Amino acid sequence: MVERPGRVEGKVAIVTGAGSTPGPGIGTGKATAVVLAREGARVLLVDLYPERAEDTLRLIEKEGGEASVFAADVTRAVDCEEMVATAVERYGTVDILVNNIGRAALGTVVDTSEEDWDRAMDINLRTAFLASKYAVPVMAGQGSGSIVNVASISALRGDGTAAYSAAKGGMIALTVDMAYAHGRQGIRVNAVAPGHITTPMVMSVSTPGSRAEFMNTMRSEAGLLGTPGDGWDVAFAAAFLAGDEARWITGVTLPVESGVLSVTPLMMAPHLRGVPAPTD
Ligand SMILES: NC(=O)c1ccc[n+]([C@@H]2O[C@H](COP(=O)([O-])OP(=O)(O)OC[C@H]3O[C@@H](n4cnc5c(N)ncnc54)[C@H](O)[C@@H]3O)[C@@H](O)[C@H]2O)c1
Repeated sequence: MVERPGRVEGKVAIVTGAGSTPGPGIGTGKATAVVLAREGARVLLVDLYPERAEDTLRLIEKEGGEASVFAADVTRAVDCEEMVATAVERYGTVDILVNNIGRAALGTVVDTSEEDWDRAMDINLRTAFLASKYAVPVMAGQGSGSIVNVASISALRGDGTAAYSAAKGGMIALTVDMAYAHGRQGIRVNAVAPGHITTPMVMSVSTPGSRAEFMNTMRSEAGLLGTPGDGWDVAFAAAFLAGDEARWITGVTLPVESGVLSVTPLMMAPHLRGVPAPTD
C-alpha cells in the first residue's frame, strides 16, 4: 500500500458555489470542496445561501477536515474582494480557486431576453472574472497558484442554451487567456467541462416522474460508458487539476463527460433507441 500525502496538503482553497441546490445527490462545488478538504486543503466555502455552505461544512467537519463559510454574492466585486481578504485573514493565503458558480438558462437567441442574457453572463462568467481578479494578485505575490474553472460541454456542442453556452465558451476562453497572462507568475489555470451529469440542480428543473427517469437514463446512455455521472466525478477531476500533480498542466479544458465529445450522435442511436419512452 502506497502512503501518500493529500493531493493538496497544506493548501488554502476557495470554492465558489460550495453549497448545492437542495435535493438528493451532490453539486459539483460541494463535492469539490469535500474532496479538496479530504486531500488536505483548508477550504473557504463561498455561497450566496450560507445555509447551503453550512451543509458542506458539516460534511467536511464530520470527516475531520478544515473549512469555514463565507456568504457572498460572487457577481459583486466588493464581495469578491472581501472573499479573498477573508481567506488570507483566516488561512494566510490563497493557493487554489475553484470558479464553480453556474446555472443553465434555456433558450435560443430569439427567445432569450436581454435580461436573461445579462443574468447568464453575470452568474456563469462574471463570477469567474471577479473572483480571479482578486485571487490572482495574492497568488502572484507568492509565485504560485492554481485556478480551476467549471465550464460545460454546452460551450462545445449545441443544446439550445444560447446565453449559457456563450458564457461557458467565454469561460474556456478566459481559461486560456489567464493561463497565458499568469503562467510566468507561477499560476496555472485550467477548466473542467462537465457533461450530462445528474446533480440536485438538474433534478430541481426536471419534472418528477417517469420523464425525469427517462432523462436520467438518456443522460447515461448518451455517453460511451453508459453509466451515470455526478458531482463527484467533476470534483475528482477538479482536485487533480488544482493540485501539484498537475504542475505542468495549464490552459487545458478537461471534459468529464463519459466520452460524449468523442462520438457522433449517430453511433449512439442504438443505445438511445433502446430506452423505454416515458409514460407521463
Ligand atoms: N449539473 C450539470 O449537469 C452541469 C453540467 C455542466 C456544467 N455544470 C456546471 O457545474 C456548476 C455547478 O452546477 P451544480 O449543478 O452543482 O449547481 P448547484 O446549483 O447545485 O450549485 C451551485 C451553487 O452556487 C451558488 N450560487 C449561485 N449564484 C451565486 C452567487 N451569485 N454567488 C455565490 N454563490 C452562488 C448556489 O447557491 C449553489 O449552492 C455550474 O457552473 C454548472 O454550470 C453543471
